[in-house]
Amino acid sequence: MPRLGVNIDHVATVRQARGVIYPDPVTAAGIVELAGADGIVCHLREDRRHIQDRDLRILREIIQTRLNLEMAATEEMVRIALATKPDIVTLVPEKREELTTEGGLDVIKFFPSLKKAIQRLHKGGIPVSLFVDPKKEQIKASEETGAETIEIHTGHYCNAETLSREDEELKRILDAVAEASHRNLQIAAGHGLNYVNVRRIAEIKEIEELNIGHSIIGRAVLVGMDQAVREMIALIR
Ligand code: PXP
Repeated sequence: MPRLGVNIDHVATVRQARGVIYPDPVTAAGIVELAGADGIVCHLREDRRHIQDRDLRILREIIQTRLNLEMAATEEMVRIALATKPDIVTLVPEKREELTTEGGLDVIKFFPSLKKAIQRLHKGGIPVSLFVDPKKEQIKASEETGAETIEIHTGHYCNAETLSREDEELKRILDAVAEASHRNLQIAAGHGLNYVNVRRIAEIKEIEELNIGHSIIGRAVLVGMDQAVREMIALIR
C-alpha cells in the first residue's frame, strides 16, 4: 500500500482569503497525522498565496511524520529549504498566474539549473523528488540530475473525461512507472487525485507514495479532517 502524504495548502488558502489567523494549517497537520497519514506536504509559493514562511517553520518543529516541501528551484527557495531542513524537497514548476501546478517540470530544458539546485540540497542532507509528467525522456533526465525520487503528475489521468481517455492516461503512467523502476528511482504520484479516481493509481504496486491535497481538504470542510483522511486511507488500502 502506498504511503499517503496530505497537502495542507488549502487550509491556508481559506485563511488567506480573509487575512485572519484561522484555520491554521499547523493544527490541520496535527489532525492529519493523528488520523494516520504518513506525511505532510506543503508548497511555499513565490507569491505566498497560501502557506507562509511562519507556517513552514512551525510545521518543521511539530511534524512527527515526514515533511515534504514543494517548491520552485529558485535561489530564494533553496535557501529556505536549507535553513528549514524538510525531510524531502519536491521541485515543481511554478507560474504566478496558474490556479495550481499545471504540469510537470521540464527536466530536459532546465537540466543545468535543476542539477545545481539538487546538488545544493543534497549537500544540506535533503533528498529530492522531481514532479514530472509521465514521459520516458523526462524520467531519464530526472535520474541524470541525481534526484532520488520522481513524483508522477497524475493530472491528465484525473481530468480525463471519458473512460477510454482515462485508460490512455493510465497507460502513460504505467509506462512511466516501468521506466522509473528500471532506473531505480523511488516513485510517488499526485495531483488531482480524489476519492473516485485514486483507486486505479493506488493499485500500482511500484508507487510508494501518493500526495493528495485539494480533495481531502474539500471533504474535510464537510465531514471533518479526521474522517476525510481516514476515508482516503481506507480507499488506498
Ligand atoms: N503533488 C504536487 C507536486 C503538487 O504540486 C500538488 C499540488 O500542490 C499535489 C501533489 C496535490 O495536488 P491536489 O491538491 O490536486 O491533490
